[in-house]
Amino acid sequence: MRWFIRDYHDDDLEAVVRLLDATKVHQGSVFGLAEVIAALRDDQPAVVAVLNDEVVGAVVSTVSGDRAWVARLAIAEEWRGKGMASALLLSLESALVEVRVRMLSYVLPEEEMLADGLANAGFTRRPAVAYFDKVVSVDSAQADVLSELGGQVLPARLWDDLAGMHREKDLIERRVVAPLDRPEIAARHGVMPPRAVVLFGPPGTGKTSFARAIASRLGWPFVEVLPSALLADPAGPAAALRATFDRIRRLERVLVFIDEVEEIAAARGDRPTSPAHGLTNELLKVVPAFRQHDERLLVCATNDLRSLDTAFTRPGRFDYVIPIGTPDAAARQAIWSRYADASSVDIDQLVAASESFTPAEIEHAARVASQMSFERSVFGGQDGIGPTSADYLAAIADSRPSVTDDVRASFERDVAELARL
Ligand SMILES: Nc1ncnc2c1ncn2[C@@H]1O[C@H](COP(=O)(O)OP(=O)(O)O)[C@@H](O)[C@H]1O
Ligand SMILES: [Mg+2]
Repeated sequence: MRWFIRDYHDDDLEAVVRLLDATKVHQGSVFGLAEVIAALRDDQPAVVAVLNDEVVGAVVSTVSGDRAWVARLAIAEEWRGKGMASALLLSLESALVEVRVRMLSYVLPEEEMLADGLANAGFTRRPAVAYFDKVVSVDSAQADVLSELGGQVLPARLWDDLAGMHREKDLIERRVVAPLDRPEIAARHGVMPPRAVVLFGPPGTGKTSFARAIASRLGWPFVEVLPSALLADPAGPAAALRATFDRIRRLERVLVFIDEVEEIAAARGDRPTSPAHGLTNELLKVVPAFRQHDERLLVCATNDLRSLDTAFTRPGRFDYVIPIGTPDAAARQAIWSRYADASSVDIDQLVAASESFTPAEIEHAARVASQMSFERSVFGGQDGIGPTSADYLAAIADSRPSVTDDVRASFERDVAELARL
């Protein structure tokens, strides 16, 4: 007796589900059962093999543009290795041609016998393909709240994108990321995961980049609260801040970032009548409430730590006050290597010439050197291969680093007197 193959009908649903269930152990798929059933209900192309009125094989696809994915190929145990897989796939292929599909892809979760069937049906194995997947961390209700707040889920690579800065990275990894990422281990050792931290340092050292990188590392959504938007809110800045944090409370997990926090948290003694005064009070009030929940972190950044209300630097509301300084030689080496080609440029020379540069200034000098070299090629008729050491050194010589001796001295004083690590 031989099976025959026909298109899937609605009446087959129960039998197909039974078959999918019976074969799921050895014939898995990156598509879950619910997705396969949804595809069938949605009339996505599918064919079945039938013998004596019984469904003994099925292949289900989902079409997206001109590509179809095989969601699941299932064959009754006693019919495996007898050519049914390729017969089903070829028949599916004819059905797909009718709906203008140009490519049929199948991602198998592991090596298995079906691979023969795929080869017989003319599929090419792409050995270099690795399949990665990830559960999206934000569901749709959360996504609505997030978009009201102008927040976003950041790409996963931002932490690795931060070149050099090993000292800062190591500290933040240990004190901030690890306890939040591994709360059970933290609890076992009596470590309280931080809820609020201040990053301080001269402009361009990477405070904003660090805040984003922490969110990316944790896989938490990133929400930035803009002081300028609060100050401009018709409801008044304090009410706007309260409303923003009320919304934030609806997110399951979140990193909240306030850049240039001195704008809303200036020492209250200074300007008792300014709107910022009430805002400082309000911020100090929302922090304790914010601290009550797991899986959230407030990161405030400033380049003027001394102008902040002392409540920020005293223990209590903020767990750590972390300096982000200019990169040392090893860090500059890593940052320069990001922009300059080490095979044709003397990176060590650039590292030595750019002492006290911030990452932002290195980035800028690198861009200037590239532009010089580009213009020489296009407008100067010289066909160079790219920026040379001389281009980079010229760009460095032309920059005016913002971290002067005075700035550095005052940063170092802040580190000694106000940092809390
Ligand atoms: N460690 C780093 N590696 C590479 N680029 C960096 C690094 N830190 C900062 N940058 C770049 O420098 C610029 C300024 O960084 P940013 O985080 O905005 O500094 P800050 O917030 O301290 O002023 C950005 O373009 C950023 O991409
Ligand atoms: Mg910044």
